[in-house]
Amino acid sequence: EKRVILDCDPGHDDAISIILAASKISPLNIEAITTVAGNVEVEKNTLNALRVCDIAGLTDVPVAQGASKPLLKKMEIAEEIHGETGLEGPELPSEPTQKAAREHAVDLIISKVMASDGDITLVPTGPLTNIALAMIREPDIIPKIKEIVLMGGGTFGNWTPAAEFNIYVDAEAAKVVFESGVPITMFGLDVTHQALATQETVDQLSAINNPVSHFVVDLLKFFIKTNQDIFGMDGGPIHDACTVAYLIDPSIFDVNHVRVDVETRGEFTYGMTSVDTLDVTGREPNVNFAYQLNQDKFWQLFEEALKSYSE
Ligand code: BDR
Ligand code: CA
Repeated sequence: EKRVILDCDPGHDDAISIILAASKISPLNIEAITTVAGNVEVEKNTLNALRVCDIAGLTDVPVAQGASKPLLKKMEIAEEIHGETGLEGPELPSEPTQKAAREHAVDLIISKVMASDGDITLVPTGPLTNIALAMIREPDIIPKIKEIVLMGGGTFGNWTPAAEFNIYVDAEAAKVVFESGVPITMFGLDVTHQALATQETVDQLSAINNPVSHFVVDLLKFFIKTNQDIFGMDGGPIHDACTVAYLIDPSIFDVNHVRVDVETRGEFTYGMTSVDTLDVTGREPNVNFAYQLNQDKFWQLFEEALKSYSE
């Protein structure tokens, strides 16, 4: 069993990632789900996390709300991709059965990590505000975090030509995390765009007949459409799901150990991740940079995870 804290902004692909993590094929033990301002406002992301817990049958996982805005910058959201609720598409259970924890996400992350034997992996799939705040507030957590497996960045952008959304929204927070010294495995756009759900994916998954698979299919239909409309893509990249897929089966991905730094000053490059693929800087590598995904293995895992909800 691998202990994880999912720090997210659900979000279609965040929701899918929670569903993968909670599936019967997953060896992950979800210690907590924490939310952050990102795709939509943090209150909506929290409500969505609670809704997804209901759908995935996660009844005893604490859900704690975190930062409502980035460290320094003005808030920016991605409503055009995820819709007004943040999870547009499927019919959403209105009142979740569970309530959010009273503790702030940052406090929960700190207390869980401090109480652990150094065996908790953080899985951020939204802006890195909560993780940076936790590291600033309690630096003693830094050597106790086993690993950070995150979605963000890449060698190109989707929010500006240079910057990916999660990093761009709070680049200062990302800088704190990337410079922390904690081992990082990073799923940037280079690899997450290979996790492209298409109409074919929808047709295939539609054959699985359970409430969770129906929910995912409805999420994907909406998400594919907005990604087609806004980015002109052939489908919807389920970015965040790469993190959990990796934790379930690392052999799905090829990774390079490289130096990655976060740009916080550039006029055109704010929020860019500078990925030193050729070791031009000669600086100490700080990131396992995932660059390739095995299509067969990835989609097979995805299908098996959804099928496991029929059992
Ligand atoms: C990231 O931004 C969000 O919209 C997605 O949930 C994902 O985490 C992709 O750039
Ligand atoms: Ca996300």
